[in-house]
Amino acid sequence: MSGIFTSSLGKKLLMSLAGIFLIVFLLVHMGLNLLLIIYEDPMVYNKVAHFMSSSILIKIFEIILFGGFLLHIIYALILQIQNWIARPSRYNKANYSNTSFFSKFMIHTAIITLTFLVIHMMDFYIKAKLGHASEIIVDGVVYHDFVSEVVDKFKILPFVIFYIAAFVFLGFHLMHGFQSAFKTLGMDNRKYTPVIQVLAIFYCTLVVAGYSIIPVIIYFS
Ligand code: HEM
Repeated sequence: MSGIFTSSLGKKLLMSLAGIFLIVFLLVHMGLNLLLIIYEDPMVYNKVAHFMSSSILIKIFEIILFGGFLLHIIYALILQIQNWIARPSRYNKANYSNTSFFSKFMIHTAIITLTFLVIHMMDFYIKAKLGHASEIIVDGVVYHDFVSEVVDKFKILPFVIFYIAAFVFLGFHLMHGFQSAFKTLGMDNRKYTPVIQVLAIFYCTLVVAGYSIIPVIIYFS
């Protein structure tokens, strides 16, 4: 059983499972954030965020989420270092011949996504946890006013450009990550591979477009 944490295949498996969990998280987070542009009443989003931060189930989910991120990052680093050691540097470039365009840049897109995530967490999540976010009181209940926080940020053009660029790089990272996760789970054959390729394109386009539309609409409204 401990082999799953130490063997190369075990590490790949755990990384894939963590990756699939993050793939699902991105859809849920996107759905919630789309409320920002669907509803004019800011309290819809603020109340949902309030519910999320006070529910014990969501708190457990958050611990699993951050654990998933950590596991994914640590194993990705270990696998990357093992690959570098196993492959003499002169073969590095030649070996890309049968890998996809996106797989060549996984480490680069990962670093950009991680940088985005740290800035994003500082701006919203950590700011709120430290009690520095704006608040609004409705019917005697104190809510974090995430809507004002997000709208204030998305009225600044460089911020909008930074977010959209980050979503595009995230999409590149997911294009290979999505397919790779399902391949590790054994779906790499003539029947499933084409289906997974189409699903990856569909998922990544949806994520990049779905997230990008939020800053664009807020900036122009
Ligand atoms: C337009 C796009 C986005 C908006 C408006 C947005 C907004 C927010 C807000 C307001 C929070 C704080 C919520 C709270 O603490 O209850 C948050 C948390 C978070 N965001 Fe985003 N986000 C966006 C995109 C993303 C993307 C692309 C990722 C991942 C790559 C991401 C990852 C996270 C994580 C991990 C948290 C902390 C956990 C959570 O509260 O769910 N966000 N986001």
